[in-house]
Amino acid sequence: MNVRITGTGSALPGKILTNADLEQMIDTSDEWITTRTGIKERRIAADGEYTSTFAAEAGRSAMAMAGVKPEEIDLIILATVTPDFPFPSTACIVQDLLGATNATAFDLSAACSGFIYGLSIAEKYIRSGAAQKILVIGSEVLSRVVDWQDRNTCVLFGDGAGAVVLEASDGDHSLLSTHTFSNGAYWNLLYQPGSGSRNPATDSRTIDERLIYLTMEGNDVFKYAVRGMEDVALMALDANGLSPSDISLLIPHQANRRIIDATAKRLGLDSDRLFTNLQNYGNTSSASIPIALDEANRQGVLKPCSKLLLVAFGGGFTYGSALINW
Ligand code: ACO
Repeated sequence: MNVRITGTGSALPGKILTNADLEQMIDTSDEWITTRTGIKERRIAADGEYTSTFAAEAGRSAMAMAGVKPEEIDLIILATVTPDFPFPSTACIVQDLLGATNATAFDLSAACSGFIYGLSIAEKYIRSGAAQKILVIGSEVLSRVVDWQDRNTCVLFGDGAGAVVLEASDGDHSLLSTHTFSNGAYWNLLYQPGSGSRNPATDSRTIDERLIYLTMEGNDVFKYAVRGMEDVALMALDANGLSPSDISLLIPHQANRRIIDATAKRLGLDSDRLFTNLQNYGNTSSASIPIALDEANRQGVLKPCSKLLLVAFGGGFTYGSALINW
């Protein structure tokens, strides 16, 4: 049984926050942000817009492309680190918004690798025969866990969602493999200290010490991101007996232009085989790869039977890759 992506979708907030806007908020410059990260602007959720809002819109769009009705969906996997609530899972809220009444729905927490982890689980459900039609979504409203007083982090992140419909198929257009791994030794290099069971949101210390916001050791993250993305990309290539020259397009997690360029260089891939859109959206964590995949798909960049490599890295640390015969 093969597993095919039959639809892609994405959803982004209308509000744009440019580097020039950030210059008015904190001690930074467009020049610094552009040269260190490649980011020019990002989207920010408005009042009344939540992770479920964008997830449902992206899911609807992916189902429309696939020609799949909500009630045909067997499983909804929503990757996010910014759920609407600690519980119930945002996936259940999305199930309700979509009218996917026959689905099992759950959230998945693997930070920026969440979408690839979701693909990996979905692949196994379909190959085992446990599900036929699955919606995998990455959706984040990071603007609500970013410290807008911390210039080291707030310039990097944005909000949005991307989604795919996966279906059982006996054709050649298939997900060839998924690979994931984690390294929990470095969990504290990129995390949100407050609002869980260690530093509850109800504890005044959590607010006073700004523990509610995400925190990151940028230089260490950079180093482990480049090494890990190369490793997990090579796992995908080795498993399929392919070399980097066989890859038509690499869609990496859109964290930072320099991380992407360093990864591509280590893999020997030129810039014409790289898809990036982080200049427009910043780092949207689990949403970044499915948003980029949807843009590449709708722009006609993905040619039938071309080999597409998705590679992610995120807090945890977590790593993931997916190789697709489009
Ligand atoms: N504007 C201006 N100056 C800044 C800013 C800013 N927004 N942020 C930091 N600086 C300053 C620092 O204070 C420091 O000043 P100092 O020398 O006076 O102390 C100087 O710039 C250099 O700081 P570094 O942290 O060394 O800058 P670096 O070149 O490493 O770039 C960055 C920082 C962009 C965060 C880089 O480390 C990076 O990209 N790391 C990867 C992080 C990342 O992408 N994380 C996303 C999460 S990964 C994932 O998606 C899960």
